[in-house]
Amino acid sequence: MTTDNVHPLRFSGYKNRDIPGPDTELTSTDPGTPMGEYMRRFWQPVCLSEELKDLPKAIRIMGENLVAFRSKRGEIGVMHRHCAHRGASLEYGIITHDGIRCCYHGWSYRIDGTLIEAPCEHDDTRLKQTVCQGAYPAFERNGLVFAYMGPPDQQPPFPEFDSYTFPGDNKLVAFSNIYPCNWLQVYENIMDHMHTAVLHNKMVAEGVDDSTAAGLSLEGFGDMPVMQWEATRSGNGCVFVAGRRLPGNKVWLRITEMVFPNYLQIGSLLPTAARERHGNSGCTRWNVPIDDHHMMILGYRHFNSTVDPDGMGSEADCGVDKIDFLDGQTGNRSYEEGQRAPGDWEAIVSQRKVAIHGSEHPGSSDVGVYLCRRLLRDLLRGKTQPDPLYEELVAKGRTLPLYSQDSVLDIPELPAAEDRKQILALGKKLMEINRAADGQADAAARDAYIRRELDRLDGRAVVIENTPETV
Ligand code: FES
Ligand SMILES: [Fe+2]
Repeated sequence: MTTDNVHPLRFSGYKNRDIPGPDTELTSTDPGTPMGEYMRRFWQPVCLSEELKDLPKAIRIMGENLVAFRSKRGEIGVMHRHCAHRGASLEYGIITHDGIRCCYHGWSYRIDGTLIEAPCEHDDTRLKQTVCQGAYPAFERNGLVFAYMGPPDQQPPFPEFDSYTFPGDNKLVAFSNIYPCNWLQVYENIMDHMHTAVLHNKMVAEGVDDSTAAGLSLEGFGDMPVMQWEATRSGNGCVFVAGRRLPGNKVWLRITEMVFPNYLQIGSLLPTAARERHGNSGCTRWNVPIDDHHMMILGYRHFNSTVDPDGMGSEADCGVDKIDFLDGQTGNRSYEEGQRAPGDWEAIVSQRKVAIHGSEHPGSSDVGVYLCRRLLRDLLRGKTQPDPLYEELVAKGRTLPLYSQDSVLDIPELPAAEDRKQILALGKKLMEINRAADGQADAAARDAYIRRELDRLDGRAVVIENTPETV
């Protein structure tokens, strides 16, 4: 600002019209791109089981046109969409006992792409020996269909996170949400936790005067959290820890974790923060590129008594392009509804087809987004080694610990500045407790360990001098 309070850049639209190109190293996932090849080394969900009925389903994943189907014997096929013969789409094929038969000339394939029959040929022996339809290994798990699209000799085991088998009444319900924009802006949105206090609160929902405006009613969610971010898993993931002061001398700490390249789990979703002691993840998501301009969230809603003790979640509202929390998670509303009460879908899709990193003006609240990008870039450039604990547990078929959770502590409130420091220190302590719990035998033991440590923190002021507020 100049001394007369006139901004030197006022009315500068004419000078600022140039838009830099996208950050393709991170955003592009077509075959042969750095991120595309990296992402292909992990099992990816490609559709919901309920989408595979008696007809093949055309899908597009990371720029590849594919077809998915369930053979009559119940095996899952995920194949290149265009028939190896002369290119007819297998979405018009006939599902058989062993695989699929092309509609055009009847070439018949097993789910692994093996040509079984070419009925227009009087002798198909040579073709059967030399032709194979492109196919990927695939399987179903709790209503999601997963495929491995990477190099066959690098196919990893499927990672089992402990939240899938959380002790008690845990149930996983598959869902998808489709976004017409690049995958990364949807994925990194989760590290941008400050937006929940704005986008999902009364600040934008016209005509609604309470914090349930966008359908989210966790007590305190409308308050600006005290944020910190950390790399996890030797740089193969990251978390945010969001701390909020609640009435009654309580502190609510929420942890959400990303596991790279495109997996995340968030905390619980329903209005229990004020009385819940320690709740586990309410939602798992993979952020799967369709192509550089479209993506799908595919994941599980977790239903159990710690994330939904009041039974407010709705399994019936989870499925193909629908989810039971928050308005504005899908593009299924009218344009006017989106304008009057925008949600994640409107905010993220409107960042352009591919968000332009070079045009951004980040602030301190964006540290998590920039940490995510830096860690992803380090992975692509070979600067980060695989996480030894992840590798060891996956190789042994053991469950993997996840840090996503909500914990509520009884902590006396201090004057504002000290209370902020105290909440930061509690967040760091909670991450220490979580890391220490990695050595526990299973999800139940880990949960019990964390609860014991939370009990020890209750009632104590935890202040670390000069607690830094950045990563
Ligand atoms: S194009 Fe598929 S059998 Fe001919
Ligand atoms: Fe959001």
